[in-house]
Amino acid sequence: MSGKRLINIAHRGASSYAPENTLSSFDLALDMGIKDIELDVHFTKDHHIVVIHDDTVNRTTNGICYVSEMTLDQLKKLDAGSWFGKDFADQRISTLTEILDKYCGQLNFHIEIKARNVPGLASETCDMVKKYGIENDVVITSFWKEWVEETKSYSPEIKTGWLVPLGPGSQWNDRLVDEAIEAEFNQLCPRAELITPTLVNKIKNRGLEVRCHGVFDEDLMIKAVECGVDGMTINFPDKLRDYLSENGYLID
Ligand code: G3P
Ligand code: CA
Repeated sequence: MSGKRLINIAHRGASSYAPENTLSSFDLALDMGIKDIELDVHFTKDHHIVVIHDDTVNRTTNGICYVSEMTLDQLKKLDAGSWFGKDFADQRISTLTEILDKYCGQLNFHIEIKARNVPGLASETCDMVKKYGIENDVVITSFWKEWVEETKSYSPEIKTGWLVPLGPGSQWNDRLVDEAIEAEFNQLCPRAELITPTLVNKIKNRGLEVRCHGVFDEDLMIKAVECGVDGMTINFPDKLRDYLSENGYLID
């Protein structure tokens, strides 16, 4: 294992310890020495790109509404931290611009086009990435293949990852590898529960990176590392950092 690397991606920031997709969770990841963050984007009603996971604000703020039905000014008034803990009451929903302004040059960004019916969101995200000149520091992902395809055709220089649309209990299907290669994606991103060493080798041998997600506990984390994945999103990147360090991986 000596000299190996694995991309440790703080999932919605260090979201086990701070409210997901807020500055507090991204700051914490940075403090932990993590170099990669994952975040989810949606359009607001007035066409700003904002960083939030769900298509409503209900779970992670004190509001109740669809993100796409609120203006940025309205979203900014919401408390995006108290649901997680009273010490985070000052946290607000950020725009993608605010995130890039703050962390550009310090972090790599794995940006998930989260919303379903958002033609143009992938392209406008690419425009922003190009405006900041960080094409080499970004991977754009989605469960929705059409948004990964939009990214690839609009900005082929930006890396893409397809989040494998197979839920719990689903069986692997090699057709997904064929589809990802035909579409010229860079990464295939299965849930950690689906990963086996054979599957990882099969995907890598076809020239794709394997970046898994859905790493809910340390056993799955260790399994994914031992299966040879190239990277993973994880809510507790400090634990992955320590495990990698103890097992001969290079930590930047
Ligand atoms: O790493 C991909 C992962 O973020 C996808 O799942 O639900 O956390 O957006 P979700
Ligand atoms: Ca996500």
